[in-house]
Amino acid sequence: MNTTLINEDLYKKVTGLCAGQMYLKIEGLNPAGSIKLKTAYSVIDDLEQQGKIKPNTKLIESSSGNLGVALSMVCAERGYNFTCVVDPNTSDTNRRLIAAYGADVIVVQERDDNGGYLQTRINTIQKLLAEHSNYLWINQYGNQANPRAHYCTTARAIARQFPHIDYLFVGAGTTGTLMGCKKYFMEHRPETKVIAVDSVGSITFGFPPSTRYIPGLGTSRLPEIFEPFGIHDKMMISESKAIQACRWMAQKYGLLTGGSTGTVMAAVHQYGELIKPSDIVVAISPDLGERYLDTIYSDEWVKSRFDSNALLPFPEMTKNSEVA
Ligand SMILES: Cc1ncc(COP(=O)(O)O)c(C=O)c1O
Repeated sequence: MNTTLINEDLYKKVTGLCAGQMYLKIEGLNPAGSIKLKTAYSVIDDLEQQGKIKPNTKLIESSSGNLGVALSMVCAERGYNFTCVVDPNTSDTNRRLIAAYGADVIVVQERDDNGGYLQTRINTIQKLLAEHSNYLWINQYGNQANPRAHYCTTARAIARQFPHIDYLFVGAGTTGTLMGCKKYFMEHRPETKVIAVDSVGSITFGFPPSTRYIPGLGTSRLPEIFEPFGIHDKMMISESKAIQACRWMAQKYGLLTGGSTGTVMAAVHQYGELIKPSDIVVAISPDLGERYLDTIYSDEWVKSRFDSNALLPFPEMTKNSEVA
């Protein structure tokens, strides 16, 4: 995989979420703005190696935004035609970024039976595949090149940085990051406990579906690549708690993070009492917060979708953090 553009070495040390020594792995400074650049390189490299991309191929993918941006970037660089199917939860910035890289954007509007948009996005893709034989679906939810990206890069980079880790907190969307990290740590560092984090309303861990507004984590359809074996614990965090954590991080520590980072930080906080002062804790921050100024960081947006708890301060913690 071409990793020259990928920054694997930025961590922010955070105190105040748990008693242990906690580090956030910052992925948002990759040029595509998120961890998904690695997934994009991996799935495109894989299709190329299998000889599946022909001169008239139109690549197509369903994305809540970040993979769409990353794929648009990689497809622009390699001269591939790309269509991205997104939904109303995708930020306006992400939609415009995808278009700026020259890709086509389709926005679905109807929620699926689980209250999300994933099945509607997939139905849209399946209709196009049936109508046009030159469309090729990347399918991040069922594509083993997705977890492989994180087995080969994210997990290895974390293990390289920390000789010992007690807890690794990983958010679950397609579960590509989670599956890749879990496999790597099971094989190479079985003492590390991998904690999977998802949003309330997502069905991946067997909980009932409900409406979600923040893109990144969660799904309304079980990802084919998900395999629960080897995960130490699974946590469900409300979007309201994730918003509180994002705002706390921005205002107390000067780091504007995306919603999935807020979810993972809230999970570390909730797990807090199980973590000892001597424990090393790493949590993955998939993207930064600029793309969420009109949502997570907008009082109006939050008030119109969540109860007043979402705007309350995150429970008081010690203020003390630094960039490693
Ligand atoms: C911001 C953000 N966080 C988390 C994730 C989840 O990552 P994964 O799909 O590897 O589970 C995504 C996936 O798109 C994302 O965009």
